[in-house]
Amino acid sequence: MPHAIIEIPAKLPLYSQTEAVVFPYMLFPLYVSDRDAATFREADNYEKYVVLTFERPDDPISGLPGGSSEIGTLCKVNQIKRMDDGRYKVSLEGVTRLRILDTEPSGALTLAHCEIVREFVEKDLVSDALVQSLNALLKIALSHGKPLPEDVMKMVDYIDNPARLSDLVALYVNLPPIDLQELLETVDPLERLKKVYVHLTNEVQRMQIKNEVAGEVTKRVGKNQKEYILREQMKHIQEELGEEDPRSADMNELRRKIEEAGLPEDIKKIADKELSRLERINQASPEYNVARTYLDYLAGMPWNTSTTDSLDIVRAEEILNEDHYNLKKVKERILEFLAVRSLKENMKGPVLCFVGPPGVGKTSLGKSIARSMGRKFVRISLGGVRDEAEIRGHRRTYIGALPGRIIKELYRCGVNNPIFMLDEIDKLGNDFRGDPASALLEVLDPEQNFSFNDHYLDVAFDLSKVMFITTANQLDPVPGPLKDRMEVIRLAGYSSQEKLQIAKNFIIARELEENGLSDRRLLFNDEALEKVIGDYTREAGVRGLQRTIASICRKVAKEITQNKATRSCITPEAVTELLGPKKFHNEVAAENDRIGVATGLAWTETGGDILFIEVTSMPGKTELILTGSLGDVMKESARAALSYIEAHADEFGIKPEAFENRIIHIHVPSGAIPKDGPSAGITMVTALVSLLTGKPARRNVAMTGEITLTGRVLAIGGLKEKVLAAHRAGVRTIIAPERNRDDLEDIPDNVRGELQFIFVTEAAEALAAAL
Ligand SMILES: Nc1ncnc2c1ncn2[C@@H]1O[C@H](COP(=O)(O)OP(=O)(O)O)[C@@H](O)[C@H]1O
Ligand SMILES: [Mg+2]
Repeated sequence: MPHAIIEIPAKLPLYSQTEAVVFPYMLFPLYVSDRDAATFREADNYEKYVVLTFERPDDPISGLPGGSSEIGTLCKVNQIKRMDDGRYKVSLEGVTRLRILDTEPSGALTLAHCEIVREFVEKDLVSDALVQSLNALLKIALSHGKPLPEDVMKMVDYIDNPARLSDLVALYVNLPPIDLQELLETVDPLERLKKVYVHLTNEVQRMQIKNEVAGEVTKRVGKNQKEYILREQMKHIQEELGEEDPRSADMNELRRKIEEAGLPEDIKKIADKELSRLERINQASPEYNVARTYLDYLAGMPWNTSTTDSLDIVRAEEILNEDHYNLKKVKERILEFLAVRSLKENMKGPVLCFVGPPGVGKTSLGKSIARSMGRKFVRISLGGVRDEAEIRGHRRTYIGALPGRIIKELYRCGVNNPIFMLDEIDKLGNDFRGDPASALLEVLDPEQNFSFNDHYLDVAFDLSKVMFITTANQLDPVPGPLKDRMEVIRLAGYSSQEKLQIAKNFIIARELEENGLSDRRLLFNDEALEKVIGDYTREAGVRGLQRTIASICRKVAKEITQNKATRSCITPEAVTELLGPKKFHNEVAAENDRIGVATGLAWTETGGDILFIEVTSMPGKTELILTGSLGDVMKESARAALSYIEAHADEFGIKPEAFENRIIHIHVPSGAIPKDGPSAGITMVTALVSLLTGKPARRNVAMTGEITLTGRVLAIGGLKEKVLAAHRAGVRTIIAPERNRDDLEDIPDNVRGELQFIFVTEAAEALAAAL
C-alpha cells in the first residue's frame, strides 16, 4: 500500500478547478494560463506536491475558498511545459485522497492544511464477491463495445484491492463530474465499489438498449437492400429470358387502359401525369397503391360508354304489366314520362319520386323501368347516410380515401346512363360531417349535374345522362329543395283483393322457383291465400305476404326432402298447420263498444293504421292530461276538441259540472310509437262526448277528420291508406270529411263495396253516427 508510507508537508499549494475530478493513480495533463502555472511551479518547494480539488459550481462547500470541495487529491507535478499558444501544459499524477482541514492565503497562492485519507480494507467474502462481480461486469461492458484499453483490462485482472479497483474503474465509467466527485468523496472503499458497480450496471443497460435499437434498424435497412438487389437481379434474368417484369407489365396494362378509355382531353392529361408519377413510386410504399387505385378509377369511369335506349312505348307498357299487377295510374304516369323522354332526347326532366309504404313495389318499379328502357339498373340506399362524403367521396389526401357512392356505382356498372335509384331519400340524415342533402341536390339538379364533382375523383363527371329515380316512405322529411326537383308518384298500398291477385300472379311463381319447387305442382287455393293475407300479415304492401309465402314454400320443400306425404294443394288448414296460430287478431271485432273509447284512423310511413283514443276523468283540479307520445299538433287538436265540447255542452246534453274540478285524461295506446297530426280531431271529440254523456262509441265505426273550434270538419290526407287499413282491420263504417269525398275514386271497387262511408261537415254529424 504505497500511500500508507507517504509523508507530506504540513501545507500544500491548492488548485481548484472545474475541468476534471482527479483520482489517485491517474496520470493526466492540465492546461493552464501563465498565472495559474505559478501554483504548480511553487510545487518545487513542497516536494513536487500540490492539492487538486474539483469546484462544484452549483454546490460550493461552505468555508473553503473558491467553493472547493472538502476532499481533494494529492498530485505530483511531473512536468511543466510551455505551449506554442502561451499556455502551460502541466503533467500530473494522482497520488492519494486528502481531507482539506484549513486554508490560508500566501501571496498569490492559497495554501491548504491537509491530512491523508487512509483507506483500509479488510478482505472478506463481501469484498471478494464485489471485486469479482465488477470484473465480470467489465467484461460484459467490453462485449457491448465499451472502449476499454487492453492494458486496463489486464490490470483489472491483477488488482484485488477494492480501493484501487474502484478508483481505476471509476476512471472508465461514463459519469458526469458531479457523480465522479461523489465517488471521490466516498472514502469507504467497499461503499465506493458498490457505487461504481451500480453506475457501470446502468451504463451496460443503456448500451444494451442502444444496441438492440441499432440492430433493429440495420435489420430493416438490410431487408430493403436485399429486396432491391433481388429485384434488380430478377430484372436481369427476365431481360435475359425475354420476359416482361410484372411491374412494367402492370404499367403497360394501365397505360393501355387509359389509352382505350377514351378520356376527355383534360382528364387524359391528368391521367398521364398520374401515370408517370406512379412509375417513379416504389411499389412497396403505401403511396403506390393509393395512386394505382386512383388511376384505376380515372381510367375505369364510363366517360363515353352508354347503352342505347329502347324507346318503344308499347313494349315498355308490356314490360311494366309483366312485372306489376294493377297500379294503373302509376304505370300511366311512368309511360307518359318515358314518352316525353323519347320525344325530347337529353331531356333535363324532373326526377321521378315514388312515395309509399314499404313493400308496395317502389324499388321493383324502378327495375322494371330500367328493363323497359333497356338500361342498366343501379340502386343505393340512402337510409342512414349522414356524411356528405358518402355521396361525394373523401379527398385523396385522407388515408383510405375512396370515391362517393354515386361515382363508385357508376364505375361498377360501367355505363354513364343507367337508371340510378336513390332509395329511401326520406331517411337521409345529417350531422357535423356535412349535409348529404346538399350534395344530393347537386346530383339531381340538371343545371349542375353535368359537372358533378366528387372529392376523390377530383375532376368533373357528367351525370346528365343518368336517369335518377328516388323513393321515400313519406315526403315530409325530404328537404324542400330536393322535393322541388322531383315529380312525386304516390303508391298507396293494396287491398286484400289486390294482394290476392299479386300473390297468385306474381309472388307464388317466383317463390316456387326460388325454393326449388317450380317443377312440382303446388297450388295455393284462394281461401288459403286470404287466410295468409288476413291472419298472418297486416301491412300496406306485400313484403310480409311474400315472406310468408316463401316460408310456406320452404316448409313444403323440407317435407319433400324428408319424404313426408307430398302436398299438392295449400288449403287454409294447411296454412294453420305450417305456420302455427294466426299472428293478427281483429281488434275491432274482439271487444264490445265502450264508453270513452273511439276508433280513429292514422297515416304512418308504413301505410294506414287504426288507433283507439281513450278518455277517462277523475275528481281533482281542472286539468287536461295527454299521454301516448303525442306530437304538438295532436296535443293542440285535443285541446281544441275539449274547448269545442265545453262551448257546446248544452247541445250535447252535458252539464257544466262535468268539467268542474275534474281531471280529464286522453290516452292513445301503443304509447311508445310517436303520433302526430290533426286528423284525430273528430275521434277525440267522439271519445270525449261518449265519456261525458255516458253513451258508448261504436267500435266498428272508424273516423278521421281535423276539427275547428266551431266544430267544422276539415279535409285530411292519406284517405286511401286509411281506408285500406280500416278495411284490413275489419271496420265496416268510415266517417270522413265531406271535402275528401273525391278521394273515394282511388279506392278499389271491392273495398268500397264492403264499406259504408259517411261524409260529414260538422262534428255533430259524426257524433250522431258514432254514438
Ligand atoms: N303490384 C305488384 N305486382 C307484383 N309484385 C309486386 C307489386 N307490388 C310489389 N310487388 C313485389 O313486392 C316485393 C316488394 O316490393 P319492393 O319494390 O321491394 O317494395 P318497396 O321498394 O316499395 O318497399 C317485390 O318483390 C315486388 O316485386
Ligand atoms: Mg324499396
